[in-house]
Amino acid sequence: YRKTIQIAIDGPAGAGKSTIAKKLAKELNFLYIDTGAMYRAITYKLLINHIEVTAHKELVDLLTSTNIRFEKGDILLDGNVVTHKIRSPEVTDNVSKVSAIKEVRMTLLKIQQEIASKNNVVMDGRDIGTRVLPKADLKVFLTASVEERANRRYQELKTDPSFNLSLRTIKNSIEQRDYEDENRELDPLVPANDAILIDTTKMSINEVVEKIKENL
Ligand code: CDP
Ligand code: CDP
Repeated sequence: YRKTIQIAIDGPAGAGKSTIAKKLAKELNFLYIDTGAMYRAITYKLLINHIEVTAHKELVDLLTSTNIRFEKGDILLDGNVVTHKIRSPEVTDNVSKVSAIKEVRMTLLKIQQEIASKNNVVMDGRDIGTRVLPKADLKVFLTASVEERANRRYQELKTDPSFNLSLRTIKNSIEQRDYEDENRELDPLVPANDAILIDTTKMSINEVVEKIKENL
């Protein structure tokens, strides 16, 4: 028996997880937790401190002295808002290497499970249905073709005037990250056995949200 309600949303980059999870959480008045943002925040901290993923002791020390929390739609790293900084191409291209490390996953797993034990949540990521919330009330695995996912990310990033990457570069970066996330040893990206699979390639955001609500 558990007092909180948990909805897990997993899938590859650009499948629409955060957009859909945020909307669903708002409609249900649940807390939305973006676990990818937590992996990005750790990656950002390692990069600004010039710590290599192979420097085990430095990495463990850094994890012990790191505080991550969510506040009013922002993510705070050691008390500072890093919501936008963690979306840089540099963080994006390094995050899969950082998220493959055991100590990193163990640290974030604990925080994620703690939040979900105290709040009704819609949580999105890669291993929510398989590892973080194995007893979630509803598990959703979102997919879309890699072309569609790259195009979505491109359209989204294009609105930033300082943005200068090609669609091709974005597609390559997504394919590389998918590969690393699907093939790592610890909690790889894979649908949970009891997840509902939704291919969103040709679906609008509202159609996806409605489809999920049909399963609630
Ligand atoms: O939003 P986007 O699809 O670009 O990715 P994200 O959700 O921000 O996640 C960034 C990275 O964090 C992923 O590519 C994974 O390497 C890692 N991640 C993970 O390992 N486990 C999770 N539960 C969430 C993210
Ligand atoms: O979190 P994840 O990386 O899975 O994807 P996202 O950041 O939520 O979505 C990437 C972009 O695709 C956003 O700009 C959405 O507006 C758009 N989109 C979508 O999420 N779902 C659709 N069915 C169509 C478009």
